[in-house]
Amino acid sequence: MSNKQITNPKSPETLWNELSQLDRKHVLHPSTNPKAQAESGPKIIFSGGQGIYLNDLKGRTYIDGVSMLWNVNLGHGNKELAEASYKQMSDSAYTTGFYGYANEPTVLLAEKIASLTPGDLNTIFYTSGGSESNDTAFKLSRFYWQLKGYKEKRKIISLRRGYHGVTVAAQRATGIEVYRNFSGSQDPDIVNAEPYLTECELGDNNHPRYEESIRHIIEKEGKEKIAAVIVEPIQGAGGVHMPPEGYLEALRRLCDENEIHFIADEVICGFGRTGKMFGVDHWNVVPDFMSVAKGITSGYAQLGGVVMREDIKNAISEFDGMLAHGFTYSGHPTACAVGLKNIEILLRDNLVDHAEKMGEVLEEGLKYLEGKYEFFTKTRVKGLLAGFDLMKDPQSGLPFDDSVKAAASLVEECYQRDLLIRPFDFEPGMNTVAIAPPLIVTKEEVERIISIVDSSLEAFMKKI
Ligand SMILES: Cc1ncc(COP(=O)(O)O)c(C=O)c1O
Repeated sequence: MSNKQITNPKSPETLWNELSQLDRKHVLHPSTNPKAQAESGPKIIFSGGQGIYLNDLKGRTYIDGVSMLWNVNLGHGNKELAEASYKQMSDSAYTTGFYGYANEPTVLLAEKIASLTPGDLNTIFYTSGGSESNDTAFKLSRFYWQLKGYKEKRKIISLRRGYHGVTVAAQRATGIEVYRNFSGSQDPDIVNAEPYLTECELGDNNHPRYEESIRHIIEKEGKEKIAAVIVEPIQGAGGVHMPPEGYLEALRRLCDENEIHFIADEVICGFGRTGKMFGVDHWNVVPDFMSVAKGITSGYAQLGGVVMREDIKNAISEFDGMLAHGFTYSGHPTACAVGLKNIEILLRDNLVDHAEKMGEVLEEGLKYLEGKYEFFTKTRVKGLLAGFDLMKDPQSGLPFDDSVKAAASLVEECYQRDLLIRPFDFEPGMNTVAIAPPLIVTKEEVERIISIVDSSLEAFMKKI
């Protein structure tokens, strides 16, 4: 007689249906329509993945064309990262950074990041993600000014269409109305300016839009009231917007002139996504604070941080009291061990250069589609961060009617063809689509993505 247990695994359909029922009842999903989710349940129930591919419970395989939330930079199923996590977890569950305690991966990752960040950005304060990093940057900026005797320097200026997260301060810094206004949160110390008014930021106060510029807000509020300006080097969730040449440099100068901190939100751009280690490296700008998360662990563990310049660290180090800020998981050893291994692989496999090269292939493909379809326009690509727009008539600037739901409809066609990408249509007339595959993507896989978008565009064209 065999001792083998006779198992009776549930069929994929049965398991899917059971999980779907439970999900509808017990889970409230982020950034999802709650009514639709309560009625229909999850669109996909993932079961695993490898490289740029993800599987669902029913055995369907998708290409992850946006690295989930532009974070799974090394792709799915990376055993080296899993092993780093297992090893660290086996050594210790968790030790804290509170009370001055330290552990090896936390310290070594800090040193590694300091070696990669530009200028003298040499010290990190750890968090568990991007929103916490931005809130922390705001607090540390204000604290620094307090230490220097500028008690009123509190205001933070951010940009319309910027996305900085959803904790209350990060939410109010976010310049996408639907997020910024959710649940009526308020913070009078955080104000939005119009992005990319380079001339105004350089001092042209005759410009017709001068009043919307950061420079004007500084003049109006008084520089003694402004702590910091926060920008993404490339706006991500706001629709993948590249700054015009000279813009970030102009902001750096503006901040220097007015003794205001420059916070670069590198949560998407950081760790190779744009074909350089950090987004600001494209413009040789050294910010005062840099918020990082996502790509720091390729999504394998929840980790973020704020990297700061030496003068800020030194000023804070003069403070002889308790730094009353910190999360339980500020510097979780497992997350830091994964972060260290992630960076080791990124450097060992030259993935930043690879992202730049694959970005060229992606750009060529998207430009080809732009030439083929009249309604396909405004291709923009930096490394493996790419976006394009759909418009009824790009020549005259006429958008599709919102009832067409052009971006969502194209993304649905791609989904039907097993490619996951992301639509952005949070403003009237806006139909942007983002593509950001894992940095390990091959040339053949990029070409496959383009070919799926191509056939999806054909299908979309027949419907409009
Ligand atoms: C640029 C940027 N900053 C901050 C955040 C917030 O990060 P998290 O969702 O980890 O809090 C995001 C998330 O998408 C982001 O794209």
